[in-house]
Amino acid sequence: MKNSNISRREFLSMSGALAGTVLIDPVSSLYAAEKISADHLLKKTRVALVGTGHRGTGMWGKSVMEEYAGYVQFVGLCDKNPGRLEVGRQLIGTDCPVYTDFEKMMLETKPEVLIVTTDDNTHDYFISRGMELGADIISEKPMATDERKIQTIIDAEKRTGKTCRVTFNYRYSPHRAKMWEILRSGEIGELTSVDFHWYLDTSHGADYFRRWHRLVEKSGSLWVHKASHHFDLLNWWIESDPESVYALGDLEFYGKNGPFRGENCRKCPHTTECKFFFDINKNERLRRLYPDNEKYDGYYRDGCVFRNDVNIYDKMAATIKYKNGVQVSYSLTAYSPYEGYRIAFNGTEGRMDAWIQESNPTSDANYDEIVVYKNFGKRKYIQIPQGAGHGGGDKLLKDQIFIPETADPLKQAAGIRDGALACLIGIAARKSIASGKPVSIDGLTTIQPENQKIYKRV
Ligand SMILES: NC(=O)c1ccc[n+]([C@@H]2O[C@H](COP(=O)([O-])OP(=O)(O)OC[C@H]3O[C@@H](n4cnc5c(N)ncnc54)[C@H](O)[C@@H]3O)[C@@H](O)[C@H]2O)c1
Repeated sequence: MKNSNISRREFLSMSGALAGTVLIDPVSSLYAAEKISADHLLKKTRVALVGTGHRGTGMWGKSVMEEYAGYVQFVGLCDKNPGRLEVGRQLIGTDCPVYTDFEKMMLETKPEVLIVTTDDNTHDYFISRGMELGADIISEKPMATDERKIQTIIDAEKRTGKTCRVTFNYRYSPHRAKMWEILRSGEIGELTSVDFHWYLDTSHGADYFRRWHRLVEKSGSLWVHKASHHFDLLNWWIESDPESVYALGDLEFYGKNGPFRGENCRKCPHTTECKFFFDINKNERLRRLYPDNEKYDGYYRDGCVFRNDVNIYDKMAATIKYKNGVQVSYSLTAYSPYEGYRIAFNGTEGRMDAWIQESNPTSDANYDEIVVYKNFGKRKYIQIPQGAGHGGGDKLLKDQIFIPETADPLKQAAGIRDGALACLIGIAARKSIASGKPVSIDGLTTIQPENQKIYKRV
């Protein structure tokens, strides 16, 4: 974040001097120093958060309070559900004021930074209005669910001069960062194509069909809600912009395809025969956030995966052409026995493969493996230790956001252009399915796809 009065380095040396020690553990020294001294050493960034649901209270709430308290302070929380707002405040562990009125929160608390963790279809409003009311933004992905909303954000950034950081935590997983480095090492020559296939399992994958994500008008469909993570990885790895998308998709497993259905699991007569039965009350955190507060908004977090109103696809495939000539074969399946992905990068001098199984793995190895093959040569196995929270990526992302002057050697920090292009591939895929034709990225918004990057074809 840019708004600390002194640099982290200066602060750490000051706190080290106060403690009279060499800084072996900068973090604990930081907290120790904080107790001894005061806020004047490090002006904490004033942060507000809108959307006190699962993500807002966890990744961007409690953990921020616990791990980055030396750098940021919560000045306001907002949610339209007053019950979830109060539970959210307790889960985060802050005594800051809470609001159901977003404008009131912004005007009264004047945050320097606004964290947006609401439903996907509302991000555009909170990002652009938050900027207008003076805040820089940290937004969860997807940045927005259609091209008009993306344009609203682009225009607001230009008008206000404020920034929006889109939190693509997938970029920070160590094994994906390693792939980025290998691509740039030249080991597989010039990148020509990518085969990328993602599998959501019958637990996590099914969960999208229980929640608001099942409605295209709320999530933009899995093309945007989920696949924008994958498209952002592709954009970052390939380091060129997407040019056109041709796609297919269908809903063949969840929704209207189920053998029976109810409104939600707790009220369903089919609990004994349904493999998707989910007892939300067994998880105290989820019970407190959702069932305890249904009376305010009627939202079921344990909705039936077979409801007739499900209108997103559960199998999807796309061919994506990049400005630098790289072509991508992508697919997403939402009812797989295991969660994970297969990826292959094909180059003029070799190939790089990975098969990552995030649930139900075939071995209990605690590393992710990348295999690099040379044409006419040997193969090389590279093993990367796994960390907690998206392979350790969540913590690295938050360090970079909250700890001033953290370097970005792998270009992992993502802004509005990155957030937009990741969503635009999914939006173009939806349009391609509707029209049966390839859809150009150019013309959806004012963003002109470019090939300014390293894999230039001459
Ligand atoms: N990067 C990741 O790995 C990751 C993981 C999970 C969720 N997310 C993203 O985080 C965001 C939140 O997801 P979640 O799982 O916490 O959802 P959630 O349903 O648990 O929480 C969303 C919250 O926003 C509130 N809200 C909705 N509209 C609002 C409005 N107009 N005004 C005020 N509050 C409003 C809801 O009441 C709810 O409390 C989504 O955009 C999702 O895509 C990202």
